[in-house]
Amino acid sequence: MSTPIRIGIVTVSDRASAGIYEDEGGPAIKAYLDRALASSWAAVARVIPDDRALIARTLTALADDEGCCLIVTTGGTGPAPRDVTPEATEDVIDKPMPGFGELMRQVSLQKVPTAILSRQTAGIRGKSLIVNLPGRPRAIAECLDAVMPAIPYCIDLIE
Ligand code: MTE
Repeated sequence: MSTPIRIGIVTVSDRASAGIYEDEGGPAIKAYLDRALASSWAAVARVIPDDRALIARTLTALADDEGCCLIVTTGGTGPAPRDVTPEATEDVIDKPMPGFGELMRQVSLQKVPTAILSRQTAGIRGKSLIVNLPGRPRAIAECLDAVMPAIPYCIDLIE
């Protein structure tokens, strides 16, 4: 039997990481991927505060040490001072993949006018594709529905 692929799920939230509220985003991503992926896979989940250096270190560890072929983040993509997930993503990627953010914003704008506030991006680090999602749980399916068709092919191309 082949080893299941590993996917990183990173919830970026000061309040969820402090236990002020429960993380809904990470479990929503896991449930989405359980439905979307045909083969078995293993989740490597982290819940961390909105700290640029810590986000960058977490993404690096999931890509380089944990062998995740895909890392999906949720939260910290907006305009508030503590929202730094896109910057941390840009700190660690070798190659930006701007089409992911462009498409997710375009599709999200059909649902909510505030979608323009998300600076969500994506990029490649080594053999790992990193994709940012907004923090609202309902944004997860709205965004992943748009980009999911391209994800397995993208991962094949960087292997
Ligand atoms: N995109 C989708 N699909 N659905 C949403 O509800 N919320 C928006 C936007 N993108 C939203 C969305 C809002 S209100 C904000 S402030 C930004 O994402 C940034 O959210 P974040 O800082 O939690 O990542």
